[in-house]
Amino acid sequence: MVNEQNNDFVVTPWEVHGKIDYNRLMEKFGTSPITEDLLERIRRHAGDLHFMLRRGIFFTHRDMDWILDEFEKGNKFHLYTGRGPSDHTHLGHLVPWVFTKWLQDKFDAKLIFQLTDDEKFLFKEELELSDTYSYALDNALDVIALGFDPNKTEIYIDTDNAKTFYKLALPIAKKITFSTVKASFGFDNSMNIGSIFYTSIQAVPAILESVKQGKNIPCLIPHAIDQDPHFRVARDVLPKLGFYKPGNIQCQFIPGLSGPESKMSASDPTETIFVTDTPKSVKNKIIKYAFSGGQATIKEHRELGGNPDIDVSFQWLKLLFEPDDQKLKKIEEDYRTGDLLTGDLKNILIEKANEFLIHHRKEREKAKDKLDRFLVKD
Ligand code: TYM
Repeated sequence: MVNEQNNDFVVTPWEVHGKIDYNRLMEKFGTSPITEDLLERIRRHAGDLHFMLRRGIFFTHRDMDWILDEFEKGNKFHLYTGRGPSDHTHLGHLVPWVFTKWLQDKFDAKLIFQLTDDEKFLFKEELELSDTYSYALDNALDVIALGFDPNKTEIYIDTDNAKTFYKLALPIAKKITFSTVKASFGFDNSMNIGSIFYTSIQAVPAILESVKQGKNIPCLIPHAIDQDPHFRVARDVLPKLGFYKPGNIQCQFIPGLSGPESKMSASDPTETIFVTDTPKSVKNKIIKYAFSGGQATIKEHRELGGNPDIDVSFQWLKLLFEPDDQKLKKIEEDYRTGDLLTGDLKNILIEKANEFLIHHRKEREKAKDKLDRFLVKD
């Protein structure tokens, strides 16, 4: 069982709560840390390092060194990532996607993006297939809005590609036992049978390019660590079918509004800022709900300083909205010394977040005319 119950935290693709110890999680899942050597190798090829690598937000991997070995031999990898369309896109989803865009640019890599309307229908009691399909179209706009190259990006909604996906999922599913699924995802006998089958569908895009090209192509999957159990199973099965194991590069979670021990999640709107929230709503949510690492009174804060490590506004700046290390460091220092008050810090975040989101929503509008260039249907 991959749930980390002992330390009072749980991480599965469908449930994340508690104070996550990322080192323990890495040990438990059997992923490797991103070392200085690996960072240096990435920097050599990319020319620089994305702030999510510099800051350890992407902190763990499987076979990233092998991906680079192959790349150096001229065997280029393609990227694969995805989204379970259960609602509008929220800030947390942007973390792996912004990083994936950087990888596409730096490594000139093709991206396969999977929208799992089937998954969210199966796992969310309250959602119909028509709901998850329309969220898939909605979420696709956010992917396109981030500026992925239309000539190198394919977006697949699962039910629009059932013919291709089902045929490729079947041999995968045949090699996965019910007990493996139970152990990997913590399922019990009450799960519906579609959910038990589902992981084989999430494995398909990792082999799609190899099948299309008729030769093995390395695949690198950026994602947050909650999705790891899927790819642990896929890595076990795919070599048995003659494919490479996919490599993974995995990030931490953006916390929800209520504090560092929460995870931003679409199923809890009080924790979450959606990309579709208005500037006013972004401001109100941050002012009212963003957990503060500051002191109870201004006097105490000036004397004792704040704690950016637990402050949600600071964490969002660090994880997504302030790519400039110097600026971030200054904010961090001023908050620690008490020069910067919680209200000031929140205002910095509100400005940065709204600037980002206003631009994003403009691009999102333009993306409506580009959907057909990105969406693949069989
Ligand atoms: P989903 O829709 O739950 O999440 C989409 C992507 O966002 C990551 N993520 C987060 N990252 C940072 N902070 C958070 N608070 C946060 N919440 C979610 C997820 O890890 C994921 O990378 N089953 C998948 C869809 C999928 C997929 C894939 C994801 C299909 N194929 C390949 C990654 C890679 C899902 O429901 O993701």
